Amino acid sequence: MTDEAKPIRVALLGCGTVGTEVARLLTEQADELTARIGRPVELAGIAVRRNNKPRPGVPAELLTTDAEGLVGSDVDLVVEVIGGIEPTRTLLLSALNAGKSVVTANKALLAEHGGELFTAADASGADLYFEAAVAGAIPLLRPLRESLAGDRINRVIGIVNGTTNYILSSMSATGAGYSEALEEASRLGYAEADPTADVDGFDAAAKAAILASLAFHTRVTASQVHREGIAQVSASDIASATQINRVVKLLCICERVTDEDGSESVAVRVHPAMIPKSHPLASVGGAFNAVFVEADAAGQLMFYGQGAGGAPTASAVLGDLVAVARNMVLGGLGPRESAYADLPARTMGQTPTRYHVSLDVADVAGVLAQVATIFAEHDVSIAAVRQQGRAEDASLVIVTHGAPDAALRSTVDKVAGLAAVREVVSVMRVEGDD
Ligand code: HSE
Repeated sequence: MTDEAKPIRVALLGCGTVGTEVARLLTEQADELTARIGRPVELAGIAVRRNNKPRPGVPAELLTTDAEGLVGSDVDLVVEVIGGIEPTRTLLLSALNAGKSVVTANKALLAEHGGELFTAADASGADLYFEAAVAGAIPLLRPLRESLAGDRINRVIGIVNGTTNYILSSMSATGAGYSEALEEASRLGYAEADPTADVDGFDAAAKAAILASLAFHTRVTASQVHREGIAQVSASDIASATQINRVVKLLCICERVTDEDGSESVAVRVHPAMIPKSHPLASVGGAFNAVFVEADAAGQLMFYGQGAGGAPTASAVLGDLVAVARNMVLGGLGPRESAYADLPARTMGQTPTRYHVSLDVADVAGVLAQVATIFAEHDVSIAAVRQQGRAEDASLVIVTHGAPDAALRSTVDKVAGLAAVREVVSVMRVEGDD
């Protein structure tokens, strides 16, 4: 058989929602993929945990429960859509150590063990592609790794979790509380049976680590990402945001921070924040994802689309598969890990943020002065103050300028202890200019 006719043999690990779509597209588009790659691609086997149910559209003879055996067989590349850390890490390391290129959608694994996988890929001269790990179908990692490789990225800010975006959008639209909105999202299939990874921000934090690593040429792991989920977001927070013409979103924010002495660090965080209704991310509704990138020469770029789901995620997997297969045909390798900058990670306490604070106060003379004094004592500058109502119903809304997050936290704690402050109605970070 000539080299051009020899098929590239693919091992598929996992046959859930995404794996089924990968298998379907690989089979249905075989001729087109052959034309694009220059050699046929053959699905050599599909590893599943249990082979005990019919899988419509998936050739039954390809299914195996021996993932290790499949990876060790005469396959050329391994596509992984199982998820989780083990046994996936071991399987992928064994593929890479044997010089077999890997395409993976596994954000948790990359965010914790990416360095180990890249090192193995470099040592054996294999490729490691992972477009589907962040924001599903949206071409985002390739632009960061390749298209913007000649530019300097300063900030990546986005909505990278569809479940939480759906819940927050529904809270905004209906005025519902968090539990009610989560229940609805579960009933409609937008939230998993166990929504912890999404609502507590683990999923977004893993994606943030991957984005920051690529954007700033620095290894960032999920444990270095400050993470807050949406379980504490209340209907009062949403209402407070509406009053100042903002909406609440769970944001993933990766920033390059430069100190006065010119030293640089990276600040990576996931937390809910109020953004202006006029911000492009504010109109991203339901389960969609969008990511905003700011670079020196390119300026502002926005990437938008479906961040989850079988077919959209399979689209990103297939794109990687074609790229890796082309590299094999042409005899080259894709981009390697770029971690030369090795910037230190900044703690959340040191990271500059801005706060919105809504207080229920006694409408007595001097309360505003007491509150303002505490802000001044903590070196937190106030950008805007608004007082509404009188007597029993008085409320004070304060939006700050940027200050270290720890200073803002202490300020709010101290203000909450004032006798004239009846209740802290809402405290939330704000992002974006008014
Ligand atoms: N569960 C994720 C989301 C998709 O809700 O966006 C996979 O990362």
